[in-house]
Amino acid sequence: MKMRFPCSRIQVVGFGLLILLGLVGGCGKDDPMPDCTDCDLTGIPYAPTAYVVNVPADFPQMEIPADNPMTVEGVELGRRLFYDKRLSADSTMACASCHLPEFGFTDDMAFSKGVDGLFGKRSSMSLTNIGFNYYGLFWDGRSATLEEQALLPVEDPIELHEEWPNVIQKLVRDDQYPVWFRQAFGISDKREITKELAAKAIAQFERTLISGNSRYDALFIRVEDFPTEDEQLGYDLFFDFEPAVPDAECGHCHGSVLLTTNNYFNNAIDSVGNLNEFKDLGRGAVTGNYLDNGRFRAPTLRNIALTAPYMHDGRFATLEEVIDHYDSGGHVAENYDANMHPLKLTEKQKQALIALLHTMTDTSFVQNPAFQDPWK
Ligand code: HEC
Ligand code: HEC
Repeated sequence: MKMRFPCSRIQVVGFGLLILLGLVGGCGKDDPMPDCTDCDLTGIPYAPTAYVVNVPADFPQMEIPADNPMTVEGVELGRRLFYDKRLSADSTMACASCHLPEFGFTDDMAFSKGVDGLFGKRSSMSLTNIGFNYYGLFWDGRSATLEEQALLPVEDPIELHEEWPNVIQKLVRDDQYPVWFRQAFGISDKREITKELAAKAIAQFERTLISGNSRYDALFIRVEDFPTEDEQLGYDLFFDFEPAVPDAECGHCHGSVLLTTNNYFNNAIDSVGNLNEFKDLGRGAVTGNYLDNGRFRAPTLRNIALTAPYMHDGRFATLEEVIDHYDSGGHVAENYDANMHPLKLTEKQKQALIALLHTMTDTSFVQNPAFQDPWK
């Protein structure tokens, strides 16, 4: 770690040898606390405890970046920041305002509203099992890592609309945050708090948001309970497992134990003359590839019954509407996926798919005390 010495502070080195460090630099206009008299944190022990990520038996291992190892202290700091309204310009909103546990870490709106009352153009996304997604974050995959993503909402005008230097000021001047940053990251001076460290802590917390204890897991992963007739039929439709029932094709895009491939598809929700006509170009705006226009990430269907409304623009209010869309086959376009075609499902088969989607709700996840607001 890069050492940053506090402005004109007396350091004791070795056996009482006094060295006056009147350092130039580090005391400029951006110094969050130029008058800091009590900034030294070295009296507080730094002894972090490794956080053991509890991955369900049938899940893949989670890749943790080497420069952000998880610690109990880091995760807890991240949770505090995630729920802290001081990250917004007028202290009315936090990350959690749009990512609420009871809605599977989304909100219940088609478009999320930021601190200035402005609505964004996309629907909030679930953070369920977010630590397992290495294929790009957001509906269009424009952010590569959780650490990089966590820097964005604070300064986004349609989200928290605050400036990071102000947030850092608030954190440095707080009674507790400097201690928590010391305990999590070993900083030795309050002014070593940075947005990058805050983002690392938030990312650590996000990696703990693991959901693998739904009825779906008990029925189809751990096979320790019996599905109802509807649930079994829904499963056979979803994964094309049963020759006697139609192929609903869902598993091609929402497959694996994570119930997503995290890949980008055009699932035929829009009718366009050519691929430049999509109102939201989605993946195409990121890659610049014409054939990616109108493609969005297929999100996980875990906790899907809690995350209405659906799709990147929240256009479908209910799972019934979603199923009706897939049943219709949607709108043909140059790049729509081959797995999109009219399914001709009976009413019973549609209900069976919905019954299956409801098994994916994990109440032990959304109610986990470790994920709730620590400020309450
Ligand atoms: C005003 C509402 C709002 C706030 C506040 C907000 N988010 Fe989001 N979040 C969204 C929306 C909307 C998206 C999808 C945006 C897109 O795809 O362009 C999103 C996407 C994400 C994603 C990507 C998820 C995925 O599956 O790819 C992560 C991670 C995330 N937010 C974390 C955070 C964190 C951390 C904070 C606080 C620092 C935060 N959000 C604050 C609305 C919000
Ligand atoms: C060709 C790939 C593909 C297939 C097949 C597919 N999906 Fe999707 N699904 C997607 C994509 C991509 C999105 C996000 C699209 C968007 O927001 O514009 C999505 C979104 C959803 C959503 C909304 C998610 C959210 O968080 O808002 C649900 C629910 C859903 N799909 C269920 C299903 C079911 C059930 C089936 C089978 C009947 C199915 N999907 C088949 C690719 C697919």
